[in-house]
Amino acid sequence: MLETQLSHLESAALARIQGARSPEELEAVRIEVLGRKGSLTQAGKEMGKVPPEDRARIGKLLNAAKQALESAFESRQRQFDAQALEARLSAEWLDLTLPAPGPQMGHLHPITQIQSEIEDLFVSLGFAVLDGPEVETEYHNFDALNIPADHPARDMQDTFWLTGGNLLRTHTSPVQVRGMERLGPPLRMIAPGRAFRNENVDASHEHTFYQIEGMMVDRDVSVAHLIYFMKTLLTAIFKREVTVRLRPGYFPFVEPGFELDIQCLICGGPGCPVCKQSGWVELLPCGLVNPNVLRMSGIDPDQWNGFAFGLGLTRLAMMRYAIDDIRLLQSGDLRFLQQF
Ligand code: PHE
Repeated sequence: MLETQLSHLESAALARIQGARSPEELEAVRIEVLGRKGSLTQAGKEMGKVPPEDRARIGKLLNAAKQALESAFESRQRQFDAQALEARLSAEWLDLTLPAPGPQMGHLHPITQIQSEIEDLFVSLGFAVLDGPEVETEYHNFDALNIPADHPARDMQDTFWLTGGNLLRTHTSPVQVRGMERLGPPLRMIAPGRAFRNENVDASHEHTFYQIEGMMVDRDVSVAHLIYFMKTLLTAIFKREVTVRLRPGYFPFVEPGFELDIQCLICGGPGCPVCKQSGWVELLPCGLVNPNVLRMSGIDPDQWNGFAFGLGLTRLAMMRYAIDDIRLLQSGDLRFLQQF
């Protein structure tokens, strides 16, 4: 009795295993047959009713049925696994013959680009490009520029003081002092480089920024020379004719000193938000070199005079590329740098 029941059960289960169309369906069948309440498990519980002399034989049949079904489940499962693998392999294939993306090329920082352009221009006008130390003496950064220790102008530049009276240069003007000392007149030079000030950093202030300061010392140098060179410079930088004006500005190392403004390049004069409705944008300080400064560097102010100017490279880069946060320039953020 149990024997026929067993063989029906086995053949019915085998048919369902073969007929299962998905791993989920197969699993459902497995639970129905071999699970704790499955049909084969239930049949095993009938063993108690089998007469003792038949038990060994029926028990063997039961085990054989169980093993046959388990291996049928396994091989059907393997078929499904193989199908799934096949499907993945055809969906996720990789063409190993495609060319690789290639190494990423670096390029010059936007400030370096502008610096090189301006250097080229001044070299073409007969200026030397001079370099100097970033750690400076108090003398070269201040005293030799007509800013003695008790002078209120020292407060115009918040200084990072180092030990031994040294400091991080607050502008590149000390390179001009070194240039005058070393080269003597006549002299045309520019001094590009980093300058440092103890600023609270925000969108428009940095403790480290780039400048190009320049100087020409010769006979009978006038404000007209200064304006000529500045106009030539600005036309080259902005790649168009610019209108400039001078306003009085105070710097101890120049006399007279000026703030040079350019007519707003956005609105061309009538006023807009960029120029705060004034039509003019303040661009660079400049002036005729103070005779005291010449004298201190060993140049006779009765024989020679000159002009000097300071150009904020960081500011220029921000103006040219409409960068609204100074901190981006030294962030090292490739998402920013890759745009230039
Ligand atoms: N050295 C001045 C500064 O950095 C700029 C300047 C240079 C002003 C030359 C006038 C003439 O603040």
